[in-house]
Formats: sequence, structure tokens, C-alpha cells
Amino acid sequence: MTPITLLTGASAGIGTALAHEFASHGHALVLVARREQRLNALADAIAAAGHPRPMVLAIDLQSPEAGARIATELQARGLEPGVVINNAGFGLVGLATELDIAEQRDMIDLNVSALTDLSLRFVASIERHKGGILNVASVASFMPGPRSAVYYATKAYVLSFTEALHQELAPRGIRVCALCPGPVPTEFQARAGVPQARGPGSMTLSAEEVARAGYRGFMEGHRVVVPGFANRLITLASRLVPRRFLLRALESRQMKRKES
Ligand SMILES: NC(=O)c1ccc[n+]([C@@H]2O[C@H](COP(=O)([O-])OP(=O)(O)OC[C@H]3O[C@@H](n4cnc5c(N)ncnc54)[C@H](OP(=O)(O)O)[C@@H]3O)[C@@H](O)[C@H]2O)c1
Repeated sequence: MTPITLLTGASAGIGTALAHEFASHGHALVLVARREQRLNALADAIAAAGHPRPMVLAIDLQSPEAGARIATELQARGLEPGVVINNAGFGLVGLATELDIAEQRDMIDLNVSALTDLSLRFVASIERHKGGILNVASVASFMPGPRSAVYYATKAYVLSFTEALHQELAPRGIRVCALCPGPVPTEFQARAGVPQARGPGSMTLSAEEVARAGYRGFMEGHRVVVPGFANRLITLASRLVPRRFLLRALESRQMKRKES
């Protein structure tokens, strides 16, 4: 079986940047998202840059059958993951009690359930190819997020799960890394219902900068990668500042984002 790097959420933002980054380092990619046209355009761009054309799988990862479908599609082509990058995800900003419950459950299905399935399903082939798992978490993973409660909780799960898996799989030679970006201007903000990312300037990085830091940290075997000095400071501060102050500060930031 030929090893490939499976990348979810490749049709936009950080996923597109990760696709270019991994392709430029020689990874043969399988790109997953729902918008097939976007994935094909990205595959063409990667081929035009002189790399092997990635395979494209248009799949809704919110479906409970998505993991099995990906496995079947790969097997039919004699492919198996050596690396899995779980990047697909979305957030919502608003009071949890006022946001649509079904949409918040969709977020859990994608950010948590699909990521867990794809992290565990291909461990045998990842081990055979001495590869790894890169899960996209967030600076939000380090703190509770009033007015984006479910999103922050999903990202806390991603970080906790990924760190534990890092420890469990280290003896098998499998690297497992959580990539935790701060604000990145992508389609994420429009989907979340807020204006474009504008954290304090030094926190905001481009998708390309995040992808570069993610690739480097993953290859170096880091457990957690937080791109950007200001973002590393925030994650550190979030562990030191009393929870009640942190909760107030984060709530007022989300209220300002909604208003601006
Ligand atoms: N942007 C930020 O400020 C930021 C900060 C920290 C962490 N993150 C995390 O970074 C990751 C990527 O976010 P982004 O900023 O690049 O967002 P984005 O530009 O909105 O891209 C999200 C990607 O996920 C895919 N996706 C969404 N729902 C899907 C589904 N049901 N099935 C399959 N694919 C699906 C989208 O593709 P389709 O719509 O074509 O399906 C798209 O490719 C997310 O996990 C996010 O939580 C983002």
C-alpha cells in the first residue's frame, strides 16, 4: 500500500496552507472537504507547482460514516495514511443558550467526533510508515470561552485528547502534535458570525505562517505547537490568571467582536 498524507478541511484557510506546505516537503496528499471544486483547484495548483497531484475526496465529515468512507476510498486505490492532519473545524460566536442547538451539535460532530475517528482509525498504517497525527486545536483550547462555549470546549477536547495520544503512541514511534493557532484571517470568522480576525496585531498570523510552524513542530516531534510569541504568552497567562477574571475578559472580547 502506498502511504499518503490525509488532510481534512483543505478547501480553505489553514488547510489550504497546510496542503501547500506538506506538498512542498514531498508529501503525496489526499484532500478532504465538502467543496469539490475548491479541492480540485487546489490539487491543480499543487500539480502546477511541480508536485504530485493530490487526490480529492468530497466528503461531509459531520456524517458518522465519513471515516469508514475515507478508508474504503483509499483502500480501493491501494493507498493508506502515513500522516493524518485533522484540520477541518468551525466555530460559532454567541450565547450557547441562544445559538441553534443542532448547529452546535454539528460542531461537536466535526471538531470532536470526526477528529477522534480519523486519529484512531489509521494508527496501524501510520505506525508502518513511521508517520504521525497533526490535530488543529487553538489558543482557545487553553481556556473556557463564554459566548463561544461549545467551540472552546471542542478545542479543549482536541488539545487534551491529542496530548494524551502523544504519550500513548510515543512508544510506537508515532508523532502526535496539537497545532494551536491564535487568530488567523480565513473563512472561519464569517462562518462563526463575526467580522474578520483582529486580535491584538501581534497575535494575528497568516494561514501560511501557521502552516509553516505546524509542519516544523510536527516534524520535530513536538507535543504542542503554539505559533507566535504573543499567543504563547496568552496560553501561559491563561494558566496563571484567576478563572473569574479570565472568564470576564474573554466574554467582553467576544461581545466586542460581535458588535464591531
Ligand atoms: N481562523 C482562526 O482564527 C483559527 C484559530 C484557531 C484555530 N482554528 C482552527 O483551524 C482549523 C481550520 O480553520 P480555518 O480558519 O482554516 O477555517 P476555514 O477557512 O473556515 O476552513 C475550514 C475548512 O473546514 C472544512 N469543513 C468545514 N465543515 C466541514 C465538513 N462538515 N466536512 C468536511 N470539511 C469541512 C471547510 O471545507 P468545506 O466548507 O469545503 O467543507 C474548510 O476547508 C479549524 O479547526 C479551526 O477551528 C482557526
